[in-house]
Amino acid sequence: MSEAVCPAGYHGYEPFDMNNPFPAYQEMRKEQPVMFDDRINHFVVTRYDDVKATFDNWETFSSENAQAPVRPLGEPARKVMTDGGFTAYSGLSARIPPEHTRIRAIASKAFTPRRYRVMEPLIRDNVNILINKMLEKGDAGGDLLADVAYELPAITILTLLGVPVSKIPEVKDWATSRAVITWAELTDEEQIPHAHNMVKYWNYCQELVAIAKSTPSDNLVTDLVDLQSAGDEISDHEIASILYSLLFAGHETTTTLISNSIRVLLEHRVAYEALVEDASKIPAAIDEVLRYSPSIVAWRRKAVKDGHIGEMPIPAGSNVLLVMGSANRDESVFDQPDAFDIGRENARNHLAFGYGIHYCLGNLLAKLQARVAIEEITKNVPTLRLKREVAITFGENLSFRVPASVPVEWN
Ligand code: HEM
Repeated sequence: MSEAVCPAGYHGYEPFDMNNPFPAYQEMRKEQPVMFDDRINHFVVTRYDDVKATFDNWETFSSENAQAPVRPLGEPARKVMTDGGFTAYSGLSARIPPEHTRIRAIASKAFTPRRYRVMEPLIRDNVNILINKMLEKGDAGGDLLADVAYELPAITILTLLGVPVSKIPEVKDWATSRAVITWAELTDEEQIPHAHNMVKYWNYCQELVAIAKSTPSDNLVTDLVDLQSAGDEISDHEIASILYSLLFAGHETTTTLISNSIRVLLEHRVAYEALVEDASKIPAAIDEVLRYSPSIVAWRRKAVKDGHIGEMPIPAGSNVLLVMGSANRDESVFDQPDAFDIGRENARNHLAFGYGIHYCLGNLLAKLQARVAIEEITKNVPTLRLKREVAITFGENLSFRVPASVPVEWN
């Protein structure tokens, strides 16, 4: 294992620094495509073929650690969660076959494109309400993330689940707690308020199942309860766990996708103008954003038996970090990978949604919302531009690369 360690400083790789990880990724792809990083106790994998093959080899590289806190929870946070009856772990992403196969099949029956495609007009109305509210700020300009991208996906997923939109601030707060308690480095003290939020979050997921049982209505929770009544093998706890997944995965990453889309397009003005001229180019542009600046840059796996990644032997029990943000810029797959090109023919081969049995269940909903948001923004605010004087920074995290804000102006 020692050969894998880089004594020269990990090629500039700082696992939690999301500001500009791409030069380090490039160096790692070239010099040490599978590198053991003792600071995070993970093998870090940066080449496209290796990342894809490892995602695909779920029998050796299980996803069971995908939701484990990067820094194990301290005693105080654990006590808060135990006392509060927190028993959730993962809806799907950290479950393994055969349990994963069974639950994913049932979740897929409820979470169908038909269920969410009908929402397109509502999504369009909501985008326009949010854009108009932002435009009222006039010369002061706005923040595309806070003003438009933040609420839109939350309204969509809450509506699908039959949750009142008045719950948005709470749900967003819980999701933030889940993201930092799992993927950031917090002290024991800092974990405590987030642990309280996790308890509230999980209790609410269970409450939603109880509500759907007592008062069925036209929403995804009732669909899951109906499948259970019709004989599908799924427990109340597992249904609540799916909701625990969707109430998190269903908005944070899409908020980031919409924010990154507008940020990157405005950084490449010609591309933004091309979409103002011709909206049919938007779906391809979204794939290029997902390749060039994915919402999730790295995702975890655990070796459950001895295996290999490329030439590197990976002993059973090892943690593995698959860096999709690097795979998406692998020069052996994408020509001039650091160029943002909305006409790129193979942009769709990005790994932003993972690969294999855990491939993102919500990818079409995420793309639908991004498409509608970009269509309305380019149509209604063709003069939109970034406020050049404000530097965009990204929050510290191992997996989620989220801009703190996207300051824009239009006059
Ligand atoms: C841009 C937006 C999104 C990105 C970048 C994203 C990314 C991902 C990634 C990387 C995975 C893990 C894949 C793997 O382990 O191979 C995943 C899984 C998942 N995503 Fe997404 N996601 C997005 C939006 C959504 C939305 C909108 C939903 C639901 C409404 C969703 C629901 C899920 C679920 C349930 C899983 C677990 C699937 C499984 O383990 O079988 N995601 N997503």
